[in-house]
Amino acid sequence: MNEFGTRYRIGIFGTSHGPCVGAKVEGCPAGSRISESVIQAELDRRSPGKGTVTSPRRERDRLEIISGIRNGKATGGPIVGLIRNLDTDSSAYDAFLRVPRPGHADLPAMVKYGGHHDHRGGGQFSGRMTAGLVIGGAIARQVLEKKGVSLLAQTVQIGGVILRKEVPLSVAERTVRTSAVGCADRATGDRMAQEIAEAHEAKDSVGGVIRCSIIGLPVGVGEPFFGSIESVMAAMMFSIPGVKGVEFGSGFRAAAMKGSEHNDPFAVKDGRIVTKTNNAGGILGGLSTGMPVEFRVAFKPTSSIARPQLSVDVIDKKPVELQIKGRHDPCIVPRAVPVVENSAAAVVLDLMLQGGFF
Ligand SMILES: Cc1cc2nc3c(=O)[nH]c(=O)nc-3n(C[C@H](O)[C@H](O)[C@H](O)COP(=O)(O)O)c2cc1C
Repeated sequence: MNEFGTRYRIGIFGTSHGPCVGAKVEGCPAGSRISESVIQAELDRRSPGKGTVTSPRRERDRLEIISGIRNGKATGGPIVGLIRNLDTDSSAYDAFLRVPRPGHADLPAMVKYGGHHDHRGGGQFSGRMTAGLVIGGAIARQVLEKKGVSLLAQTVQIGGVILRKEVPLSVAERTVRTSAVGCADRATGDRMAQEIAEAHEAKDSVGGVIRCSIIGLPVGVGEPFFGSIESVMAAMMFSIPGVKGVEFGSGFRAAAMKGSEHNDPFAVKDGRIVTKTNNAGGILGGLSTGMPVEFRVAFKPTSSIARPQLSVDVIDKKPVELQIKGRHDPCIVPRAVPVVENSAAAVVLDLMLQGGFF
């Protein structure tokens, strides 16, 4: 399934080493002001080739809008946006058809598609497919902005380095975008970058956690049961390659809390009903409470590492020591920050359109 959404739908297309990757977006309200440079800025945040924390693959990721935006406004028709793949080197990938990489999609994809899939650069399982999510999400965030809804994703953990201080969101909005790892605190970000560099030196990789906050949502966004904010947001987040966990508000910590600790007491602030704490992560009964929606996404360490690993030859069923060559992100997290943020925007817009908020 390469399509996501009900009223606001993103369909992603392309493969990592084919001619292009991109998205077809349906449901963007006609007349919405959509700046291509805002979409480009989000793609730039995701693009590889930025120093030691990302893959050395050099892609300019230049956005081409094929249809759906005219004179800076959505036409109401499908918006098609793509980026060309320019820096492809597929030489390493044939070997993985016979000797699958541990931790990557090679083995199940080969069995499912009988070897007919485009395996070059990971094909449709590549992190590069998330460029389409960024295109669709960066359109959605511009529509949401007009309704006073904004989103901020930030890296709060890389390997063993954890951001312990609470950086005000107004500050984080600026600092995250200038940090190589997407961390709101400069000193912690430096240690995170060091953690990635050390893993890379050791021919290894690290994972991490991205926190996403959605501010300014009106009360009541979300649909009953299977359309709850958690259900739909988690489905989107788990579609991002490399994601291993998603938790809302207090998440797994809630299991060890008492009801008296976990319940967020209601209060009135400036005439608005708020809660004094936000263990609910801004969601009750699957609907937004008006408090910030808060969730965290855990990424595994990148599977493609340069140190020798145990695999098998799928033809002669013998063990093989696999040495992966090619260009890979030593940590997925820094490049996934704009992916989480923008794909979350697409989910929010879809739910707001379903709920009649436009
Ligand atoms: C932005 C981004 C970049 C990624 N870069 C790489 C990479 O360079 N090497 C790699 O092995 N996996 C990378 N991944 C993760 C793989 O695509 C993913 O682990 C693989 O498809 C298997 O899927 P799974 O981890 O969800 O099971 C990346 C993921 C994202 C979101």
